[in-house]
Amino acid sequence: VIPVVAYSYNVLMPPVIMAIVAFCSTVTLIPLSSQHLVRAGLRGRDLLKPYKQLVPESLGIVPACVLIVLLFVFTPVSFAQHLKTYASNLQPQFPHNKLSTYLSAVLSLQTATLLGFLDDLFDIRWRYKLPIPLIASIPMLVVYFAEGGITDVVIPIPLRQYFGKVVHLGPLYYIYMAMLSTFCTNSINILAGINGIEVGQAIVIAMSVVVNDLLHLPLPLSDRVLQHLPAWVGAWAMNGLVGPTTVEQAERHLFSLYFMLPLIGASLALLYHNWYPARVFPGDTFCYFAGMAFAIVGVLAHFSKTLLLFFIPQIFNFVFSTPQLFGLVPCPRHRVPRYIHASNKLEPSVALFEREPLFFVSLPLKILSALNLVQLEKDGEGRVRSTTNLTLLNALLCFFGSMDERTLAIVTLAVQVACSAAAFGTSLTITKIPPAS
Ligand code: UD1
Ligand code: MG
Repeated sequence: VIPVVAYSYNVLMPPVIMAIVAFCSTVTLIPLSSQHLVRAGLRGRDLLKPYKQLVPESLGIVPACVLIVLLFVFTPVSFAQHLKTYASNLQPQFPHNKLSTYLSAVLSLQTATLLGFLDDLFDIRWRYKLPIPLIASIPMLVVYFAEGGITDVVIPIPLRQYFGKVVHLGPLYYIYMAMLSTFCTNSINILAGINGIEVGQAIVIAMSVVVNDLLHLPLPLSDRVLQHLPAWVGAWAMNGLVGPTTVEQAERHLFSLYFMLPLIGASLALLYHNWYPARVFPGDTFCYFAGMAFAIVGVLAHFSKTLLLFFIPQIFNFVFSTPQLFGLVPCPRHRVPRYIHASNKLEPSVALFEREPLFFVSLPLKILSALNLVQLEKDGEGRVRSTTNLTLLNALLCFFGSMDERTLAIVTLAVQVACSAAAFGTSLTITKIPPAS
């Protein structure tokens, strides 16, 4: 018999209140903090505007601090039920395992924020930046292990004839989870450079995670309401839409909501100030903080593979960028699109080859050019002289033609939403939720 999770709106109240507080405090604190950041030298030129005045940078520090403070303050609230029953001797053991999960998550979030802020201050080199999230995720991985963390991967039904139902990955799975923290943080940071895009993508991902959590949780609706609704809503109210949901699974998805709802609140406030024309920049602080929040819930709430389905545009952008990241194609300091003053529109920016590219570089570029994802410039003998920078933003401009900065931000976010919708569609049809573990 699958235990039905009894929970009500009360359980959802703390993260909802945290989200509202996070929004209100972030939206007021950002204008108050921005002048202090400028005085500390944290400001940058908006590369895609005709004006030269500098914009305050690293304002991601505000939502990050607000969220971390809220997680501190709400610790007793999150554990109120346990504290009450434990104090009144109704519960023999306080659930230290849950507390350590929560604290390890806060610790990783703090470390990521610190790294992001240091990066904004000192422009840390890539070779140092990459391993730091790996190290920051160690406490969280130890907690995962101590919780009896599963390292099996359930294979989607169409592939089971080749791989079997379950593959045991063992230690490899821990390496994968550690890499996830590096991927989540850096992939948001390199899909950046136009107003609203860093924060916007994080909000879409967070909302996708919330929807995924709600699909796994029983709907807190009373029988009186349910009798007027279709039968499948009743089934959802019993066991989650994609159940069966055990108490443990439900608690993990609630844990995820405790991080994601306030993250959405704080990020919406930052987006309000960062949307075109931006009055502040989020900086690397925001990218690292938000990316780590996703890695944390993916690992500790046990949906690290589903999480990647919400990162499809980031995966595309990363894979597409690899020739530049690994030095096969020249990589300028900024790969953001080029601003055309006369039309106030953006065009793809260009990387020039100093020497003729090798065959295994120029061939894929020519294929991408045939697909309209890059534009190449060739000399009289057909040798590639330049290519547009290999980013999703430039690819969208090559594909759809030039557009203004606000439209490009909207198109990119629409792509992100469409990918999440497709991910839900696919995962609901081709995978079955693993049986209660
Ligand atoms: C990453 C990208 C880089 C891109 C940059 C833009 C890679 C390998 N690196 O570098 O190509 O140009 O992000 O953020 O892909 N800025 C704007 N408008 C915005 C946001 C940022 O003009 O809406 C500019 C500002 O000058 C700001 C600067 O980008 O000061 C921040 O760049 P930074 O975050 O330091 O760049 P990276 O993360 O190193
Ligand atoms: Mg950055």
